[in-house]
Amino acid sequence: MKSPGCASRHIKCLIVNLFLGLIFLSGFYHAKNKSFLILKSHGELLIPSMPCRAKTNVMFLKTHKTASSTLLNVMFRFAERYNLTVALPAAHHVHLGYPKTFLAHFVEAFQAIGQNYNIMCNHLRFNPSEVQKVMAANTFYFSILRNPISLLESSYTYYKDTVPAFRLSKDVNEYLASPMKYYHPEDSKKNIYARNIMWFDFGYDNNAQDNKKYVQAVLKEIEQNFHLILIAEYFDESMILLKHVLCWDLDDVIYFKLNSRSQDTVQTLTLESKERIKVWCSLDWQLYLHFNQSFWRTIEETIGLKKLEKEVNHLRMRQKELMETCLSDQKAVEKDRIQNKALLPFQSGAANILGYNLRQDLDNRTLRTCQRMVMPELQYTSYLYAVQHPHKKRKPFGLSLPAFQEKKTQIPPPN
Ligand SMILES: *[C@@H]1O[C@H](CO)[C@@H](O)[C@H](O)[C@H]1NC(C)=O
Ligand SMILES: *[C@@H]1O[C@H](CO)[C@@H](O)[C@H](O)[C@H]1NC(C)=O
Ligand SMILES: *[C@@H]1O[C@H](CO)[C@@H](O)[C@H](O)[C@H]1NC(C)=O
Repeated sequence: MKSPGCASRHIKCLIVNLFLGLIFLSGFYHAKNKSFLILKSHGELLIPSMPCRAKTNVMFLKTHKTASSTLLNVMFRFAERYNLTVALPAAHHVHLGYPKTFLAHFVEAFQAIGQNYNIMCNHLRFNPSEVQKVMAANTFYFSILRNPISLLESSYTYYKDTVPAFRLSKDVNEYLASPMKYYHPEDSKKNIYARNIMWFDFGYDNNAQDNKKYVQAVLKEIEQNFHLILIAEYFDESMILLKHVLCWDLDDVIYFKLNSRSQDTVQTLTLESKERIKVWCSLDWQLYLHFNQSFWRTIEETIGLKKLEKEVNHLRMRQKELMETCLSDQKAVEKDRIQNKALLPFQSGAANILGYNLRQDLDNRTLRTCQRMVMPELQYTSYLYAVQHPHKKRKPFGLSLPAFQEKKTQIPPPN
């Protein structure tokens, strides 16, 4: 998609690229000469014959504090690019019923649209039988996990004011020194972020007793329900693997990191605290270790480490190019420095959530692309809701933006 000799700073060059990109994408069913792999539900790998076709029925289980807001943005942009139908939260809601266990009617217009949604990626607590009522049988399921150690610190800061166990303790190290002092059974519904949050998001009991048989059974069930589990610590590698598995283009998985914190709101965990998290959140710890292993095994069995490294470099180059094109500061900035308040991300707890400033001199088409790249989760959800359900009352955090493409493509038949 990139024209050779394109100097990165030139907007003209981006327009050419975008134009070529649109031509390239205009025929949805174009064949691509690259190897394609499908991870079958049992975890075994299939590498079917070439060529491959971009997967358009995709369910992403959005876990908490795992870089999943960045992935939601990737999913929404893909949906807009191909005019796909997104299973959005009903009415004024911004999540699909979370923390309630998911039910199909949490999706807007489920009665009318039935099993014909293409993309589902807003926060929900996983419940396979109800998700299957909304998503087609050939849907690709994936999710992302993060190391429970850094996850707990992030969760502590973000939910400091809302989670009783966090509110009652002075700081994260004090909390971990004796969690039971702050984690009271009567608050268990509000304390989900304080222990095994990923286990909870996948639909399981985050206070369950850690016994080997139970943990093995859950891991096996997750392997059956999900085709791919990505790892936040290897986000770029994850994007490359995702691109291959879904047969998407590089630009589909280029991202600007969203919903990140400024470094000064990150608390330092003591060595003892780090060890304690492995015990306190032992269910999540085992979940993470298991899928970190299978993530790397999948890479070795499919793309290979050498090709992975090459493609990760491409991704970073393209990301840098787009950041130079789109952003006036060329990096994320603190909340008080975000000029366009409509693009301010939701702020929570003691965290200073960063955002972006777009360049002032962008032409309309570039502006549209750049706006999508930096659009925070709530604003993007509200925006898509307004586009897909024009006669419904708008959600809060609404943004009005020009349509992504003047001419929308047809919804492709299910793949
Ligand atoms: C995840 O897997 C990689 C590659 O095998 C390994 O280097 C890393 O230590 C693993 N992470 C943890 C927390 O075990
Ligand atoms: C760019 O968009 C603005 C506002 O939507 C519109 O008024 C203007 O005519 C557009 N410019 C071009 C060159 O299309
Ligand atoms: C885009 O998708 C919607 C359904 O989500 C459909 O009603 C509409 O006709 C599509 N637009 C085009 C131009 O295909």
